[in-house]
Amino acid sequence: MLILGIESSCDETAAAVIEAAESGRLVLRSSIVASQTELHKRFGGVVPEIASRAHTEAIVRITGEALERARTSVGQLSAIGVTYTPGLIGALLVGVNFAKALAYSAGVPLVGVNHIKAHAAATFIATDAAADPPEQLDPAPLPTPDSPALVLVASGGHTSILLMRSPTQYETLGRTRDDAMGEAFDKIGRVLGLPYPGGAALDRLAAEFFASGREPTLSLPSAAIAGDTLDFSFSGLKTCVLDMVNRLRMKGGEPDPAELAAALTVTIADSVVRRLDRALELTGARTLIAAGGVTANSHLRRAITELAGRRGVRLHLPPLRLCGDNAAMVAAQAYFELMEGNIAPPSLNGVATGASEL
Ligand code: KG4
Ligand code: ZN
Repeated sequence: MLILGIESSCDETAAAVIEAAESGRLVLRSSIVASQTELHKRFGGVVPEIASRAHTEAIVRITGEALERARTSVGQLSAIGVTYTPGLIGALLVGVNFAKALAYSAGVPLVGVNHIKAHAAATFIATDAAADPPEQLDPAPLPTPDSPALVLVASGGHTSILLMRSPTQYETLGRTRDDAMGEAFDKIGRVLGLPYPGGAALDRLAAEFFASGREPTLSLPSAAIAGDTLDFSFSGLKTCVLDMVNRLRMKGGEPDPAELAAALTVTIADSVVRRLDRALELTGARTLIAAGGVTANSHLRRAITELAGRRGVRLHLPPLRLCGDNAAMVAAQAYFELMEGNIAPPSLNGVATGASEL
């Protein structure tokens, strides 16, 4: 069965085709991502209206390319999955309306996909036949209500610790109370004058710092909220870094960006590990999944891998190209929704960030 996925919730227009075997094995046939980073760079962040317009311009071409690379056509699809929540409302509506029209005209079922669940679904893909050369991945085992998986989703818009009882059934155990993890990286990156989005640039700077054998001496406040909670707060951490930089600049100094990047990365990774460790203890989950744009962070990947080793749990991280926004994850999640009979009504609408999470 072939499923087309469409993603337009933020600043990536993406389309992908997944083939699901009868056994449920998922093979990624094509995955096209058109990033709008260049358009938003000079504003230091995503400008919603520019994002919607750019999606409108790109979506037909990107979808056509995804179908062509998969050597298929709309008529051969078993379903079309589209991200309908959460995200920027104008951006979501471009994908939703396009997918709806495509499904309607081809008589193919439409599936509404939650972007957060989709990030985690990237870890269920067994083969990336769209990669050059094709790559066998190590797909996560499907969780069951008796054997749930613990999931961290960390991106520019979301930071949550979730318990996954099946690819469609989730419970939220913890979440950020203010900024998302990626947002904290990006805002601090901006203060240091790094190009948007700052996350990847801070990762490179921190890696150089660690490679030089140094240890960061700056001490920053944890993002793990104290007490019996699995929630996070990144605003205190962000304010602390901004104050530190401002105080230094008032005295005519400049922070060492590499040391700051390293201190920030260590603090964020420690906060995540502390909370995941507690969540593993509370839930007894034997599988840990971490997904979303920020899980491309090399230090965070290492820290989570160490935690999983220490706890003896099975860890699944998507390959780097499937961490950030893409449509392969949307097609994968659409497959699981379809298996549950979750077909969207023709009235499917976009639901913005804040109005819905899971
Ligand atoms: O999942 P994603 O592409 O979009 C959302 O759903 O938000 O995540 C984008 C976020 C951005 O904040 C970006 O700075 C961050 O992921 N990011 C990273 C790295 N690569 C991307 N953060 C830290 N280290 C990285 N290597
Ligand atoms: Zn995302």
